Amino acid sequence: MNRIREALPADQAEVVAVWRECGLVRPPNDPIKGFDSALQNQSSTVFVLEDGERIIGAVIAGFDGYRGWFYHLGVKPEDQSLGNGRALITAAEEWLKIKGAPKINLMVLNTNSKVIGFYEKLGYQVQETSVMGKRL
Ligand SMILES: CC(C)(COP(=O)(O)OP(=O)(O)OC[C@H]1O[C@@H](n2cnc3c(N)ncnc32)[C@H](O)[C@@H]1OP(=O)(O)O)[C@@H](O)C(=O)NCCC(=O)NCCS
Repeated sequence: MNRIREALPADQAEVVAVWRECGLVRPPNDPIKGFDSALQNQSSTVFVLEDGERIIGAVIAGFDGYRGWFYHLGVKPEDQSLGNGRALITAAEEWLKIKGAPKINLMVLNTNSKVIGFYEKLGYQVQETSVMGKRL
Protein backbone atom coordinates (compact mmCIF):
# COMPACT_ATOMS: atom_id res chain seq x y z
CA MET A 1 0.00 0.00 0.00
CA ASN A 2 1.29 3.47 -0.86
CA ARG A 3 2.26 5.68 2.05
CA ILE A 4 3.53 9.25 2.26
CA ARG A 5 5.89 10.32 5.04
CA GLU A 6 8.62 12.84 5.69
CA ALA A 7 12.01 11.59 4.55
CA LEU A 8 14.74 10.38 6.90
CA PRO A 9 18.48 10.96 6.33
CA ALA A 10 18.79 7.28 5.34
CA ASP A 11 16.46 7.88 2.38
CA GLN A 12 19.01 10.14 0.69
CA ALA A 13 20.33 7.72 -1.96
CA GLU A 14 16.89 6.42 -2.92
CA VAL A 15 15.39 9.89 -3.22
CA VAL A 16 18.32 11.17 -5.28
CA ALA A 17 17.94 8.13 -7.55
CA VAL A 18 14.25 9.00 -8.09
CA TRP A 19 15.16 12.60 -8.92
CA ARG A 20 17.82 11.40 -11.38
CA GLU A 21 15.38 9.01 -13.02
CA CYS A 22 12.87 11.86 -13.37
CA GLY A 23 15.43 14.12 -15.05
CA LEU A 24 15.38 16.63 -12.19
CA VAL A 25 19.13 16.69 -11.52
CA ARG A 26 21.05 19.30 -13.47
CA PRO A 27 24.60 20.48 -12.86
CA PRO A 28 25.80 22.50 -11.03
CA ASN A 29 23.00 21.62 -8.57
CA ASP A 30 24.03 18.90 -6.13
CA PRO A 31 20.98 16.77 -5.24
CA ILE A 32 22.72 15.15 -2.25
CA LYS A 33 23.49 18.52 -0.67
CA GLY A 34 19.98 19.68 -1.60
CA PHE A 35 18.35 16.69 0.11
CA ASP A 36 20.51 17.01 3.26
CA SER A 37 19.94 20.75 3.48
CA ALA A 38 16.16 20.43 3.04
CA LEU A 39 16.02 17.90 5.89
CA GLN A 40 18.37 19.78 8.22
CA ASN A 41 16.60 23.12 7.85
CA GLN A 42 13.60 23.53 10.16
CA SER A 43 11.58 25.42 7.55
CA SER A 44 11.80 22.74 4.89
CA THR A 45 11.33 19.01 4.47
CA VAL A 46 11.18 16.26 1.89
CA PHE A 47 8.08 14.12 1.44
CA VAL A 48 8.49 10.62 0.05
CA LEU A 49 5.91 8.24 -1.36
CA GLU A 50 6.59 4.55 -0.73
CA ASP A 51 4.84 1.63 -2.38
CA GLY A 52 5.57 -0.74 0.52
CA GLU A 53 9.18 -1.51 -0.37
CA ARG A 54 10.67 1.34 -2.34
CA ILE A 55 10.43 5.08 -2.66
CA ILE A 56 8.62 5.91 -5.90
CA GLY A 57 8.28 9.68 -5.57
CA ALA A 58 9.50 12.70 -3.65
CA VAL A 59 9.11 16.46 -3.32
CA ILE A 60 10.86 19.19 -1.32
CA ALA A 61 8.56 21.63 0.52
CA GLY A 62 9.69 24.78 2.25
CA PHE A 63 8.19 27.86 3.93
CA ASP A 64 10.40 30.94 3.85
CA GLY A 65 8.12 32.85 6.23
CA TYR A 66 6.21 34.52 3.38
CA ARG A 67 5.50 31.90 0.74
CA GLY A 68 5.53 28.15 0.51
CA TRP A 69 7.69 26.59 -2.20
CA PHE A 70 7.94 23.20 -3.86
CA TYR A 71 11.04 21.84 -5.55
CA HIS A 72 12.01 18.60 -7.24
CA LEU A 73 8.64 16.89 -7.48
CA GLY A 74 9.23 13.57 -9.19
CA VAL A 75 7.45 10.23 -9.53
CA LYS A 76 9.32 7.28 -11.06
CA PRO A 77 8.29 6.96 -14.72
CA GLU A 78 6.63 3.55 -14.26
CA ASP A 79 4.55 4.90 -11.35
CA GLN A 80 3.30 8.03 -13.10
CA SER A 81 -0.33 8.68 -14.12
CA LEU A 82 -1.64 6.80 -11.07
CA GLY A 83 -2.37 9.78 -8.82
CA ASN A 84 1.02 9.64 -7.08
CA GLY A 85 2.09 13.16 -8.03
CA ARG A 86 -1.23 14.54 -6.79
CA ALA A 87 -0.87 12.61 -3.50
CA LEU A 88 2.60 14.04 -2.86
CA ILE A 89 1.47 17.60 -3.61
CA THR A 90 -1.59 17.20 -1.37
CA ALA A 91 0.58 16.03 1.55
CA ALA A 92 3.05 18.87 1.02
CA GLU A 93 0.21 21.41 0.76
CA GLU A 94 -1.20 20.21 4.11
CA TRP A 95 2.23 20.65 5.73
CA LEU A 96 2.52 24.19 4.31
CA LYS A 97 -1.02 25.07 5.46
CA ILE A 98 -0.11 24.03 9.00
CA LYS A 99 3.05 26.15 8.80
CA GLY A 100 0.84 29.14 7.90
CA ALA A 101 1.92 29.63 4.29
CA PRO A 102 -0.77 31.72 2.53
CA LYS A 103 0.36 30.80 -1.00
CA ILE A 104 2.56 28.26 -2.72
CA ASN A 105 4.95 29.04 -5.56
CA LEU A 106 6.88 26.63 -7.71
CA MET A 107 9.06 26.92 -10.78
CA VAL A 108 8.76 24.96 -14.01
CA LEU A 109 11.63 25.08 -16.48
CA ASN A 110 10.63 26.46 -19.88
CA THR A 111 11.94 23.21 -21.35
CA ASN A 112 9.45 21.23 -19.20
CA SER A 113 6.24 23.04 -20.11
CA LYS A 114 4.39 19.71 -20.57
CA VAL A 115 4.13 19.51 -16.77
CA ILE A 116 2.10 22.73 -16.56
CA GLY A 117 -1.12 20.81 -17.29
CA PHE A 118 -0.49 18.64 -14.24
CA TYR A 119 -0.17 21.64 -11.91
CA GLU A 120 -3.21 23.35 -13.48
CA LYS A 121 -5.24 20.21 -12.73
CA LEU A 122 -4.24 20.69 -9.09
CA GLY A 123 -5.36 24.33 -9.03
CA TYR A 124 -2.08 26.13 -9.77
CA GLN A 125 -1.97 29.00 -12.24
CA VAL A 126 0.85 30.30 -14.39
CA GLN A 127 1.91 33.62 -12.81
CA GLU A 128 2.76 36.81 -14.72
CA THR A 129 6.15 36.87 -13.04
CA SER A 130 9.75 36.48 -14.17
CA VAL A 131 11.97 34.35 -11.97
CA MET A 132 15.45 35.79 -11.42
CA GLY A 133 18.36 34.02 -9.78
CA LYS A 134 21.95 34.53 -8.67
CA ARG A 135 24.35 31.81 -7.64
CA LEU A 136 26.11 32.45 -4.30
C1 LIG B 1 4.84 15.78 -12.86
C2 LIG B 1 4.68 14.41 -12.24
C3 LIG B 1 5.21 14.44 -10.82
C4 LIG B 1 3.17 14.06 -12.21
O1 LIG B 1 3.01 12.88 -11.45
P1 LIG B 1 1.90 11.77 -11.80
O2 LIG B 1 1.91 10.79 -10.70
O3 LIG B 1 2.13 11.27 -13.17
O4 LIG B 1 0.59 12.65 -11.80
P2 LIG B 1 -0.88 12.19 -11.29
O5 LIG B 1 -1.16 10.83 -11.82
O6 LIG B 1 -0.99 12.40 -9.83
O7 LIG B 1 -1.80 13.26 -12.04
C5 LIG B 1 -2.74 14.08 -11.37
C6 LIG B 1 -3.68 14.64 -12.39
O8 LIG B 1 -2.95 15.44 -13.33
C7 LIG B 1 -3.17 14.96 -14.67
N1 LIG B 1 -1.90 15.11 -15.39
C8 LIG B 1 -0.74 14.50 -15.13
N2 LIG B 1 0.21 14.94 -15.98
C9 LIG B 1 -0.41 15.84 -16.80
C10 LIG B 1 0.03 16.65 -17.88
N3 LIG B 1 1.30 16.62 -18.29
N4 LIG B 1 -0.87 17.46 -18.47
C11 LIG B 1 -2.17 17.50 -18.07
N5 LIG B 1 -2.63 16.78 -17.01
C12 LIG B 1 -1.76 15.95 -16.42
C13 LIG B 1 -3.56 13.50 -14.50
O9 LIG B 1 -4.31 13.07 -15.60
C14 LIG B 1 -4.36 13.55 -13.22
O10 LIG B 1 -5.66 14.01 -13.49
P3 LIG B 1 -6.93 13.40 -12.67
O11 LIG B 1 -6.61 13.55 -11.20
O12 LIG B 1 -8.08 14.22 -13.12
O13 LIG B 1 -6.99 11.96 -13.08
C15 LIG B 1 5.40 13.34 -13.08
O14 LIG B 1 4.95 13.39 -14.41
C16 LIG B 1 6.92 13.46 -13.07
O15 LIG B 1 7.60 12.99 -12.17
N6 LIG B 1 7.48 14.10 -14.14
C17 LIG B 1 8.94 14.20 -14.27
C18 LIG B 1 9.54 15.18 -13.31
C19 LIG B 1 8.97 16.59 -13.44
O16 LIG B 1 8.88 17.13 -14.53
N7 LIG B 1 8.59 17.18 -12.28
C20 LIG B 1 8.06 18.50 -12.21
C21 LIG B 1 9.12 19.51 -12.02
S1 LIG B 1 8.46 21.16 -11.95
